[in-house]
Amino acid sequence: MSFPSLPTDLDPLERLAARIRSREAVVGVVGLGYVGLPLLAAAHGAGFQVIGVDADVHKIEALREGRSYVVDVTASEIAAMDRVTYAATPEALGEADVVVLCLPTPLTDGAPDLTMVLTAGEDVARYLRPGVLVVLESTTYPGTTDELLRPILEQGGLVAGRDFALSYSPERIDPGRAGGQLAVTPKIVSGYTERCRDLAVSFYSTFVQSVTVTHGTREAEMAKLIENTYRQVNIALVNELAVMARDLGVDIWESLHAAATKPFGYQPFWPGPGVGGHCIAIDPTYLSWRAGQQLGYRIGFIEHANEVNNRMPDYVVQRVADALNDTGLAIRGSKVLAVGVAFKPGVDDLRGSPALEVVERLQDKGAEVAFHDTLIPAVRLGERELASVPLDVDTVVSFDVVVILTPHPGLDVQALVSAARLVFDARGATVGIDAPHVVRL
Ligand SMILES: NC(=O)c1ccc[n+]([C@@H]2O[C@H](COP(=O)([O-])OP(=O)(O)OC[C@H]3O[C@@H](n4cnc5c(N)ncnc54)[C@H](O)[C@@H]3O)[C@@H](O)[C@H]2O)c1
Repeated sequence: MSFPSLPTDLDPLERLAARIRSREAVVGVVGLGYVGLPLLAAAHGAGFQVIGVDADVHKIEALREGRSYVVDVTASEIAAMDRVTYAATPEALGEADVVVLCLPTPLTDGAPDLTMVLTAGEDVARYLRPGVLVVLESTTYPGTTDELLRPILEQGGLVAGRDFALSYSPERIDPGRAGGQLAVTPKIVSGYTERCRDLAVSFYSTFVQSVTVTHGTREAEMAKLIENTYRQVNIALVNELAVMARDLGVDIWESLHAAATKPFGYQPFWPGPGVGGHCIAIDPTYLSWRAGQQLGYRIGFIEHANEVNNRMPDYVVQRVADALNDTGLAIRGSKVLAVGVAFKPGVDDLRGSPALEVVERLQDKGAEVAFHDTLIPAVRLGERELASVPLDVDTVVSFDVVVILTPHPGLDVQALVSAARLVFDARGATVGIDAPHVVRL
């Protein structure tokens, strides 16, 4: 199907709407990580020419060579993209009609660090022209799009809502979860003005099945933080219950599995060695920090959940020590095999991994620690680079204790338990396998 060429007297945003409808619009994505790369592929799949910008030259090289470094995008998907330009610098954004920002939003010294978003905003501002839609996808506190990003984009004299459109639309993907998540997960979309929002809705509707709109950008920013705070607080709740249940002499796993049979009004969460990654361990603090700045008080639930979750690595180390002690061994000098070091099952992501914290603390206490992880071939611990060891019987039996920290899908737990001398299971992977040498969190 071919579209007639557009009349030149349309106002810039009307022209943009038509270019999105006809797929003539060029889509630029800034930040090609876990969020940006799947988005770039989805926009390309919807028929847009795309420009991918990432400051990391190694990522740009990989993409140009047809390699993927993100679990949710395969090398063959990269290779199949034919209307794509990759760049390590932002000049190419001058060609883009839609620019989506997918930059990290970490904490630095316990406070939100928006440097990367704002630096990329400056880059976009330099090449901004009338008739462009700019969308922020990074997770952040309410007010960021309007109060911090908009003034940067307007520096050159263009006005949001009149000359260019501005939107906030949080990403909700769960890396490693199968099933084309981007297309089937409802997308929250907001705009600085109604018109901005409508343009963003028309863009996302080209590759997302369902779009939910909010009245303003602050509501969309808050919605994402509510989702992550809900997980953070509930994980902390079961972690706190797990510690207490042991002192009460109750098997927490049996209780949680029983509770999870309730068909309504209950969503199961599971204890573990703590929380990591780029979301649950960080985002709620954005909200609490913002409340502190703006209102003078932090959010008690979030602060307490952080404390509980942050204590879990130490608790796991203590419990491993107790389990070894019961067999007459000390941590110092014991051989420990950590199974899984990624921050959660199914991902190759080490960012803020509590499993890695456990490994480091065991090492600090004098244990000889090795690890196995099917998704992570090697980790750097201080000066040393450790390579993942295989999980064959001879290897497993040579360790004093196997500590299950992040059981990736496909882990043969039964075989592991059969081969091991002692198992400490921090994730409930062994539930249903009862043996005297298995100890659970
Ligand atoms: N990872 C997730 O599961 C997930 C899910 C939903 C939302 N988010 C949110 O999305 C945002 C991005 O997260 P991510 O996991 O994709 O991060 P990421 O670290 O995987 O990717 C971000 C990319 O941005 C690049 N970058 C940094 N500064 C840049 C700049 N000035 N110009 C160009 N590129 C630059 C980095 O090199 C990196 O490749 C965060 O706010 C995060 O909280 C993440």
